[in-house]
Amino acid sequence: MSVTVGIDIGGTKIAGGLVDLEGMVLARARRETPARSSGGIVSAVIDVVHELAAAAKKSGMGEIEAVGLGAAGLVDETRSIVHFAPNVNWDEEPLGAEVSAGCGLPVIVENDANAAAWGEFRFGAGRGAHAMVAVTVGTGIGGGIIHRDRLVRGSFGMAAEFGHIVKVPDGRLCGCGKRGCWEQYASGNALLRAARELASERRADAAVLLGLGDGTPEGVIGQHVTWAAREGDPVALEAFAAVGGWLGTGLADVAALLDPEVFVIGGGVSEAGDLLMVPARAAFESALVARDHRPVAAVVSASLGNDAGLIGAADLARDLSL
Ligand code: BGC
Repeated sequence: MSVTVGIDIGGTKIAGGLVDLEGMVLARARRETPARSSGGIVSAVIDVVHELAAAAKKSGMGEIEAVGLGAAGLVDETRSIVHFAPNVNWDEEPLGAEVSAGCGLPVIVENDANAAAWGEFRFGAGRGAHAMVAVTVGTGIGGGIIHRDRLVRGSFGMAAEFGHIVKVPDGRLCGCGKRGCWEQYASGNALLRAARELASERRADAAVLLGLGDGTPEGVIGQHVTWAAREGDPVALEAFAAVGGWLGTGLADVAALLDPEVFVIGGGVSEAGDLLMVPARAAFESALVARDHRPVAAVVSASLGNDAGLIGAADLARDLSL
């Protein structure tokens, strides 16, 4: 059987899987992302590969052929070095070479959202699309472009850095060093920030939300916002409406540039489903240029959910094993 490993390295977690030719995840391994050490990330990734290699052997799947890494940062055109990452501690990180040396396998590095876009295009909500844009809403915002069955990487490997489109001049400081980037208003971090701010202004309305933590706005974590919104907590719902609104207006900006037939929305926050998608679609349609004179792109949820990145990375790694 032909199996490759895909690993999605995000701002909070490292999620790996053993993936077959049809994009099925046959085994999984996971670690927290070490916050401040790039060496710690490399060791954790190598650990994940070893764990999955042992699982492959044990269940008779044989040797792993190659490893694909989806990295939350700007990857070079040789698919090996992470030049810079706003939310992970990487600076000219030779990630591909380090992981390859540690596990003795060919390794390809791709931007995490590009990998997710590829996963959704090959096996998920983007199957059959000719012009698809993926937007991942997690710690930051990532993007991936598929055009005529190919991943568009740009001249230097850095296309689709949508999270750093400036939405608010002189706005909130971003991990990239600029101000007002889209991901400061429409990511998982932005959702948490909105919920905490609203909860501290209107504690009585946020009873459900605050009750899920230690009763203080600081005690609220990302998942609480989704859980509380599902219970009808007005503050949590308002936080989703705000973040969904920012997401939708940003999609309209991307549509003005790229005019895709479908937007596939993935990443951890997209698992909240309609809580995010309903306000996002409404804002997208009202901000879209020439709304009444054009086809409107579909805005759909990623069908592989949070697995899209690791499945896409594993599939891209297959090129190395041919
Ligand atoms: C990074 C992207 C990444 C995205 C999602 C952004 O801050 O610049 O490279 O794809 O976060 O992880």
